[in-house]
Amino acid sequence: TAPEVTVQKVGGRIGAVLSGVRLGGDLDEATVAAVRAAIVEHKVVFFRDQDHLDAGSHEAFARLLGTPVAHPTVPSVDGRYALGIDNEHGGRANQWHTDVTFVPAYPAFSILRAEVVPPYGGNTLWSNTAAAYAELPESLRALADTLRGVHTNDYDYAAARPEAPSAAIEQHRKVFTATKFQTEHPVVRVHPESGERTLILGNFLQKLTGFNARDSRALIGILQSHVERPENTVRWQWRAGDVAIWDNRATQHYGVDDSDAHTRTLRRVTIDGDVPVGVDG
Ligand code: SIN
Repeated sequence: TAPEVTVQKVGGRIGAVLSGVRLGGDLDEATVAAVRAAIVEHKVVFFRDQDHLDAGSHEAFARLLGTPVAHPTVPSVDGRYALGIDNEHGGRANQWHTDVTFVPAYPAFSILRAEVVPPYGGNTLWSNTAAAYAELPESLRALADTLRGVHTNDYDYAAARPEAPSAAIEQHRKVFTATKFQTEHPVVRVHPESGERTLILGNFLQKLTGFNARDSRALIGILQSHVERPENTVRWQWRAGDVAIWDNRATQHYGVDDSDAHTRTLRRVTIDGDVPVGVDG
């Protein structure tokens, strides 16, 4: 770790607060390397007091971690890449998911910045999918290693968020599925930086290849229950100016939709990833 970066774990298995860093496009190489190593180790890292960031410096910082990528269907709200997660753009992310797994080379990192936070609620949870895999009994790990899953953005939006108003669901679905994507991934990927095995599941996973719908649902349910186990998760209570960066190759996350109609404005920039490699290469 670069001397000025301090790392304080938040949960036993996932999450750390990094302090002593002012994020921006002008960070020195050693600090960027320390931040990147902390993301890969802790899966999600948090920074307080980054109010100085705007769309431009958010994207400039993102470029230090890799190549920013626009969302495949949702237009950016400011700058070239920033996804709007706010009341206006709907689409509350209150389903466990890994970002954009419906494309072959899905993002490696996501950088989420809080501009306006509600007076209560609106926390985000992340789960460590390497820890979820590691805690499986050996026979289940061996089975998971052989599975492949079909991911799509064309899923049942109403079923995923039964409590949301149907007009909002329909609007979200229309934008999100303007182009329909479908791709297959191994259920277990070998992380290209850490070498850990991680689970690729989440909301965009439609079915397991070679299984009927019922068996597929049951098997996914067993694996996903380990992802959602509280011990494998961390929960973040946002303040304006906070930034969270997660390793999208080793996590799922969930935006809790409990801040009623209060304003909640976040901006997310994602960084290009590679096509996942399963345990057999
Ligand atoms: C996201 O899924 O990137 C956003 C999570 C949130 O709104 O808390």
